Amino acid sequence: MQFYIDTANLKEIKEAQDLGILDGVTTNPSLMAKEGIVGTANVLKHYKDICNIVDDNVSAEVIALDYDGMIKEGMELAKLDDKIVVKIPMTKEGIKAIKYFSDNEIRTNCTLIFSAGQALVAAKAGATMMSPFIGRLDDVSYDGMDLIKQIIGIYSNYGYETMVLAASVRHTMHLIKCAEAGADIATCPLSVIASLFKHPLTDSGLEKFMADHKKANSK
Ligand code: G3P
Repeated sequence: MQFYIDTANLKEIKEAQDLGILDGVTTNPSLMAKEGIVGTANVLKHYKDICNIVDDNVSAEVIALDYDGMIKEGMELAKLDDKIVVKIPMTKEGIKAIKYFSDNEIRTNCTLIFSAGQALVAAKAGATMMSPFIGRLDDVSYDGMDLIKQIIGIYSNYGYETMVLAASVRHTMHLIKCAEAGADIATCPLSVIASLFKHPLTDSGLEKFMADHKKANSK
């Protein structure tokens, strides 16, 4: 399973990249706003800065909601760097734009997926990847993991190549469940990736190894 970091914070992206296990980055307009990135020139520069840190797969979301606007903005984003994946919202106009980009070999990430029907349409339009938001489904008392499993089953029935990118991942159990279900990618905050490393038995085990080593070598 690929790991993406879900942030527009350059320091966190660098920290995750330095771990050596990062496969990409997802951003969205809320995450960009959180970092105080405003104005087209600054937004484009920020995406370029992100591309300069990571190896590939930087999802950059269009702001336009109409087809022509999405195409114009998406082309501008795609031209910025080969690592850019144009992120398009799951709407009727968005699906038309995804089909256009797919026909022109530009990678896309169809975002804000909350149902199997939406996932099916995204695959038929040729999205490179699509993002079901599992945490936000959990928030409204629907098991987000059920949707991930359902989409994986449907894609496998027809051999769709669209990758399942589990988004709105809030904790390590989401990540583990995504891996069990066979999600292609999971995107999450740095804190969730960091939590995977931790186990109390690792800490106590290492402490004992070091203590025994010290004792034996001080004789
Ligand atoms: O990847 C989608 C993500 O940014 C949304 O996460 O935690 O705001 O639901 P969250």
